[in-house]
Amino acid sequence: MKEIVGRGKWASKAGFVLAAAGSAVGLGNLWKFPYMAGENGGAAFVFVYLLLLGLIGMTVMLAELTVGRHTQLDALGAYKKLSAKWAWVGGMGVLCAFLIMAFYTVVGGWAIKYFFGSFAGAANIDFGAFITAPMEPLIYTLVFCVLTWVIVFYGIGGGIEKASKIMMPLLFIFIIIIAVRSCTLPGAGAGLDYYLNPDFSKINGEVILAAMGQVFFSLSLGMGCMITYGSYLDRDSSLTQSAWMIPALDTTIAFLAGLAIFPAVFAFGMQPDGGPGLMFGILPQVFDKIPAGTFFAAIFFLLVIFAALTSAISLLEVVTAYFVDEKSVKRSVASVIGIMGIFILAIPCSLSMGALANVHVIPEIAAMNIPAMGFFDSFDFLTSKVMLPLGGLLLCIFVGWVWGTDKAIDEITEGGGKSFPLGGIWSILVKYIAPVAILMVFLSGFGVI
Ligand code: PFF
Repeated sequence: MKEIVGRGKWASKAGFVLAAAGSAVGLGNLWKFPYMAGENGGAAFVFVYLLLLGLIGMTVMLAELTVGRHTQLDALGAYKKLSAKWAWVGGMGVLCAFLIMAFYTVVGGWAIKYFFGSFAGAANIDFGAFITAPMEPLIYTLVFCVLTWVIVFYGIGGGIEKASKIMMPLLFIFIIIIAVRSCTLPGAGAGLDYYLNPDFSKINGEVILAAMGQVFFSLSLGMGCMITYGSYLDRDSSLTQSAWMIPALDTTIAFLAGLAIFPAVFAFGMQPDGGPGLMFGILPQVFDKIPAGTFFAAIFFLLVIFAALTSAISLLEVVTAYFVDEKSVKRSVASVIGIMGIFILAIPCSLSMGALANVHVIPEIAAMNIPAMGFFDSFDFLTSKVMLPLGGLLLCIFVGWVWGTDKAIDEITEGGGKSFPLGGIWSILVKYIAPVAILMVFLSGFGVI
């Protein structure tokens, strides 16, 4: 294999947007968003999600891309360059990438198992037995890790961008096919009703925190991923355009995922209460009953693999860029160190479904709505509900008050050359509204206010 030297750059603007949208569109959209919406009030949840997306998500997206393009460095390096005292916030982002990848690669591995299993009928796989077994899921996790690593090894333009340019358009086509199939099944209406009928009585502090965590997770924000991707941009790229296009693509796919899943589940009289198991435990049984179900199941799980891969490469890139920029390690070595560390952390996550089910990393804290959790759930909880929103909060304070929105706007407008009519509003959002909103959601989610 040919060694990739230097930091690398996106080869085209469209390539960057696809890669960044690829990072955003992932298991969060296909696996988490539909079951969270279904459980937490349907359209009411979607409404809260969209509100937080507009208020916080897009604000933080633009801030991260700006810091990245300005510094042309990895997450830690970017903070350090602008203010040495803040380097640890970038470091927390790199740590977060490890923790997310630890459970992300496990679910990515499940998708690979289901893709191959779909040819013989994915419904024949006993989901519970499969994920609780010690060895088999780990082998699939390893396969997923290797696939992720190969793409990152080939660098920004040659690996990540090329892979995203192939996988993202296919993913889009596949999800439309599945959503149309699902919505046209007899009896699909009950699913649409469940998914879209707003039930505002379900909305409370905990649900709002879950929605905010989902905004950060789904948009790949709060851990320097968009700083890293932004750092491979040339100065003449439009950051404001990216800051709305990436969330728009991400939200469209998340919404389509719900349309793909719920109508089909209800059409066959199944219960959508599977939570995280919805995609693996219930959907294959639905496909089993659809004409040409094997075809639809294979397409669906290939779509899941593509979505998971384009996100996993961005997470591994956060780690790789850190080693390349901060430790002057070659990309090949940096990416190997990263993926090895990730796989080691993935082992207890996978085992926490079975052998280590009773090992609690986080104990129950009833007063703060926190249940006892094993490795997999703890890493998910710690990243989505704590580290990402905290990272986002700190980023807003950093850009708003330490680096300064004037300097950020100067970067966004390329020294005043480009227009940014919403600059004034964005400044207020970064400095006041987003941080206060994040803090309030935090406190109410954990039962403090
Ligand atoms: N956005 C991805 C998803 O929705 O599945 C997950 C993710 C990727 C989170 C990259 C954070 C990140 F930096």
